[in-house]
Amino acid sequence: MSSDGPTIESLAVEDRRFPPPPELAATAIARPELYEEAAADAEAFWLRRATELLDWVTPPAAACDRSRAPFFTWFADGTLNASANCLDRHLAERGDRVAYHWEGEPGDRQTITYRDLHERVCRLAAGLRELGVRRGDRVAIYLGMVPEIVVAMLACARLGAPHTVVFGGFSPESLRDRILDCGCTALITADGGWRAGKEVPLKRNADAALAECPDVRSVVVVRRTGSEIGWVDGRDVWYHELVEGRDADLAPEPVGAEHPLYILYTSGSTGKPKGILHTTGGYLTGVAATHRWVFDAGDDDVYWCAADAGWVTGHSYIVYGPLANGVTSVLYEGAPGTPDRDRWWEICARYGVTILYCAPTAIRTFMKWGTEYPARHDLSSLRLLGSVGEPINPEAWMWYRTHIGGGRCPVMDTWWQTETGHILISPLPGISTLKPGSASRPLPGIAADVVDAAGESVPLGQGGFLVIREPWPGMLRTLYGDDERYVETYWSQHPGMYLAGDGARRDADGDFWLLGRIDDVMNVSGHRLSTIEVESALVDHPAVAEAAVVGRADETTGQAIAAFVTLKGDVTGDEALIQELRGHVATKIGAIARPKSIVLTDDLPKTRSGKIMRRLLRDISENRQLGDVTTLANEDVVSEIAGLASAARASGDEDKAV
Ligand code: PRX
Repeated sequence: MSSDGPTIESLAVEDRRFPPPPELAATAIARPELYEEAAADAEAFWLRRATELLDWVTPPAAACDRSRAPFFTWFADGTLNASANCLDRHLAERGDRVAYHWEGEPGDRQTITYRDLHERVCRLAAGLRELGVRRGDRVAIYLGMVPEIVVAMLACARLGAPHTVVFGGFSPESLRDRILDCGCTALITADGGWRAGKEVPLKRNADAALAECPDVRSVVVVRRTGSEIGWVDGRDVWYHELVEGRDADLAPEPVGAEHPLYILYTSGSTGKPKGILHTTGGYLTGVAATHRWVFDAGDDDVYWCAADAGWVTGHSYIVYGPLANGVTSVLYEGAPGTPDRDRWWEICARYGVTILYCAPTAIRTFMKWGTEYPARHDLSSLRLLGSVGEPINPEAWMWYRTHIGGGRCPVMDTWWQTETGHILISPLPGISTLKPGSASRPLPGIAADVVDAAGESVPLGQGGFLVIREPWPGMLRTLYGDDERYVETYWSQHPGMYLAGDGARRDADGDFWLLGRIDDVMNVSGHRLSTIEVESALVDHPAVAEAAVVGRADETTGQAIAAFVTLKGDVTGDEALIQELRGHVATKIGAIARPKSIVLTDDLPKTRSGKIMRRLLRDISENRQLGDVTTLANEDVVSEIAGLASAARASGDEDKAV
């Protein structure tokens, strides 16, 4: 962010309101008193949650230790085991409850109870121990969305061996870098995985990565696709052979609350990924509490978090949160459009899904595909929806509520990060009056604020930097192996406050509106504008499916707004439509926000987790050489867009569709 003042001008107005349905207000797990209890004494509040929601071997007496700030610890004198909290303690009363309804992309299915899962985890943990994995050893997991990914994470946790899950869509180089950074000695992978009808060659990628990872002694291979694979004798072992005949009741290893549970890599502002370190007791407390409050998940629910377990959303809200709470989940291996574009809705109807949690990029894809696909299925079991990962445009929010939620399901727009471990800002289903596009308020026990460059709170209505003023239980403890970068990245801009790297504003009611990453903020004629507001205005137009907006250097105005727009399937773009879209944004937000150029394109450059790579669009807009493209999922689209943008520039009329 440039130094000429932190104010982000936020001009969009959204005045739709959705109070909680009365039945939900009456029965929801999260009661309004939680806010008061937390406000009275946040640390005592979290300590009560820790002892109430988890089973401890030694219960903690103290909450947060601030003596080495910003290296905070939580519940440090307690001991527990994460896998025992997710499994063992449920066996007596709910051992036969379904933990996961799993569905493979080709259509194969498994029903896995808590008892089954416990048994599988014990057997794998025993197998890993046989291979020499000990408490503290790091284990890499490189799998698709098969049940074994959950089993592998919990088996590591059972032994006190921190896992690092590498998303199955990552390349051999990315896998290698993470294994090396983390110093892993074992890897759990599969022959392959199914995604969009194609096989992902996991073992081949792993072999390529391991050629440069001499410390990995053991590779456990799940048989999923049955394809031919390479084999290294003495190193590789089949999963099904390893677990055969092992102890189905292996005792969990008690660990201190601050024992590392996992390391998960995420991209930062530089090319080198950051190894976010999460520990056990505080993290589990945070995910269990927030999963209960935000999703209201109880005994009668069928909950589906449609993220990949390879991202933090999967760690916290497919694995640790729901299992700690003993909830029934759905787990789906494949792509949403395979074999047809109604796959998700077919799954929802088959299992009677009551709670669905997914990302705005998925919702916008479904918008683009059209309402006929959800309309094919009975979605009346749904009662609550969630969104995560990006700001959700009000139109996508409304579409989600209307076409998936039948106009009756509240939408929880949850703000959090890999670093935060669990949701920090979100509505609560029985309490909050929802505003499409607003993540509402900090959860009980979370001290979020919006500040200026000097670290002063900005007045309501004004934008600034999102910070968290007090430590919280599930926070990252450091960047693995790089304490200095941890302090520098999150704690140095405003000493004593955690810098999230997002812009935000609070409206007159104090509700938070996320404005995108700080570096997504544009400055046009001295006015700061958030890319998301312009994008939302574009997506609000009936012809638009998806939009990405960047600030491009401009001699006169500092930055000019460059928009990239994907139209809905049945719309043909022309010059008249482009002018109409520019006018539409001007009407929605103000003339200052009228895009200088609009390029119509079939797709937008995205990361494998579905985030639009605005950085690349900025490079294209400014006619620069493209920066790092290693995390790009759809490479072809970039050259296509670059061609369109340069044709638009060359024609002298940048508003032209090509
Ligand atoms: O910019 C925010 C955006 O996603 C970033 C965190 O990304 P990641 O660590 O990959 O974790 C994603 C899943 C938690 C944040 O800095 N973000 C996440 N949720 C929201 C959001 N932006 C706006 N609204 C949200 N609900």
